[in-house]
Amino acid sequence: MTTLETPRLISRPWTEVDIEPFFALCSDPEVMRYFGGPQSREKVEATVRSCIELQARFGVWLQPLVLKETSAFVGMAGIAEVLFEEHFTPAVEIGWRLARKHWGHGYVTEIGKAFVDYAFRERNFGELVSFAVQDNERSIAVMKRLGFTHDPADDFDHKRVPDDLPHLKRHVLYRLKNPVEKSA
Ligand SMILES: CC(C)(COP(=O)(O)OP(=O)(O)OC[C@H]1O[C@@H](n2cnc3c(N)ncnc32)[C@H](O)[C@@H]1OP(=O)(O)O)[C@@H](O)C(=O)NCCC(=O)NCCS
Repeated sequence: MTTLETPRLISRPWTEVDIEPFFALCSDPEVMRYFGGPQSREKVEATVRSCIELQARFGVWLQPLVLKETSAFVGMAGIAEVLFEEHFTPAVEIGWRLARKHWGHGYVTEIGKAFVDYAFRERNFGELVSFAVQDNERSIAVMKRLGFTHDPADDFDHKRVPDDLPHLKRHVLYRLKNPVEKSA
């Protein structure tokens, strides 16, 4: 399991204590705008349970982000195997979701750089992808800040978005290659 540290932040494995602040975050309509709106407690608990299982299997996952100074829960970020089939899979994605009050401080870019570094240096992945609903400008801005690039030919309709949310279907895909050739 993986813990990453940056000047202001720690990303560490999930524990039961993260459920409460993560539920608060997932209850905020602004944060959840591109995920189909706020989620029930049951759904949030199921997500955390699945993250706990997957982080044990994969060694890292989308995992809690806390402030170093106060241990306050900021949100979640990390890398994960893409669990659905698309033209770009198998692939490892980088993703993020922060509580509204923690937007605008550069936290995601800071921890994102650490995850990119970890993915390429420690795990030797050949490439990372990141995807978002096409008008999720804040998320796309993070991808660009981290150096990810976009080819419109990669964009796709997300199969797991329900048909009653057609405005959330179209996704942009961004990619970042490992600058060091992946060893065999
Ligand atoms: C996507 C999301 C994580 C982006 O968060 P964010 O705080 O905008 O991203 P960053 O951490 O890169 O911060 C960048 C902002 O912090 C500002 N900033 C302040 N201090 C900074 C510092 N020390 N270093 C860098 N940037 C700093 C930047 O100027 C920038 O502000 P701007 O957006 O007004 O230009 C956040 O909006 C979110 O959680 N959204 C809801 C969930 C979601 O949609 N997730 C993505 C699904 S694909």
